[in-house]
Amino acid sequence: MTANSTASHGIQSQDRWWMSDGLSESPAGLALDGVALAPLAEAHGTPLYVHSELTLRRRLGELRAALQATGAPSKIYFAMKCNRFGPVLEVMRREGDLGLDTCSPREVERALAHGFAPSEISFTAGNLSERDLARVADAGPHVNLDTRSALRRWAAELNRRGARGEARKVGLRLDPKVKVGWRADPKLSYGDSKFGFAFDEAEEVARYAAGLGLEVDELHVHAGWAMPRSAADDLGSAFAQMAEVARAIPSVRVLDVGGGLGWRYRADDDPLTPAIWSGLLRQHLAPTGRTIVCEPGTYVAASAGVLLCEVTTVELRRGVRWIGLNAGHNINVFAAHYGIPLAIVPLRRPLAEPVGPANIAGNINEANDVFARERPMPELEEGEWVALAPAGAYGQSMASDHCMRGFAGEILIAADGSVQLGVR
Ligand SMILES: Cc1ncc(COP(=O)(O)O)c(C=O)c1O
Repeated sequence: MTANSTASHGIQSQDRWWMSDGLSESPAGLALDGVALAPLAEAHGTPLYVHSELTLRRRLGELRAALQATGAPSKIYFAMKCNRFGPVLEVMRREGDLGLDTCSPREVERALAHGFAPSEISFTAGNLSERDLARVADAGPHVNLDTRSALRRWAAELNRRGARGEARKVGLRLDPKVKVGWRADPKLSYGDSKFGFAFDEAEEVARYAAGLGLEVDELHVHAGWAMPRSAADDLGSAFAQMAEVARAIPSVRVLDVGGGLGWRYRADDDPLTPAIWSGLLRQHLAPTGRTIVCEPGTYVAASAGVLLCEVTTVELRRGVRWIGLNAGHNINVFAAHYGIPLAIVPLRRPLAEPVGPANIAGNINEANDVFARERPMPELEEGEWVALAPAGAYGQSMASDHCMRGFAGEILIAADGSVQLGVR
């Protein structure tokens, strides 16, 4: 069994919880799928996101197996909001059986530019403007909407274009109601949030859509980010209600369960596994006879990526060791925005023992630009590199140019070990 299998989400030891199956210690330091990372930092500069095709494909294989075990027809739409790096999208396209989940007109247009057909693109978003709707209609993906306003304006847009048949099929995004995201954090749980129709109004909304000349062919529920194992019962009850709604609306052909399978972000995380998730789908959704669709982001991409940074500063300040990096929350938002500190590992000595606590901070002029506080850390020297992990999901895709610090570089290690730069 690999160090970070589907079942274990891979701990090698409590101290090295971040060591996934793709990461290993080589003579040159930390390696991703066998490729040493320090020479990449040297060659391409830092901050630098590095992704690995092999890990991406392993995660996809695990999800395919989980879906197959439900016995229902199924399809995976990779959520490009978590990682839209060109070479990563190319990996998805080369898989041959994947679609892309999109949430803005530009994402749809980028999916088309990477060779995905409109029928391979799913669009789910809210608070859409007239311009958004027109651009999405130009591109032609299947659309999931979650307000009567959007349904009304979407129908008007289709009427203006004289659209018929398939083009008038639409999905309804539903409120999962349950709070099943990472540590039930309201930022990461989608029940009772800004999204979705209530389960008990879906039938009436489907009639409303029919009155507009639309046919509801899909129900969509995205329940939360990085759901823990303890969320299984609540998620099962959301799926059970979804199934009930599907049975009440015969035109529904597809049940889209969004993303939400996560990865380990803290030593004591116990993520919902694909096997448990598959069991819930088999129990609640497969008996409806509908196609099961999912939109994974984090599960596929998180463990496939690391962020390499340079240590710019090591200073004892008022009795506290501070370690400064050449990247801030503009480059990776996890700590500042979600309160989730990533693992921070010396690149050349990934398994070095801690010598004491340190605060690790970025180079942005904001007090909350701190990657971790009181973290047991090894000795670090100015000028050396560290790797932040897991960093393949919602890293570059959520970055900004705050303080005009610019963006990180980004590369993909292809399956043959070569490096692809791509155009961002
Ligand atoms: C509608 C929808 N689908 C899929 C995803 C991907 O989720 P995850 O990264 O948890 O797999 C998200 C994330 O926010 C989402 O909002």
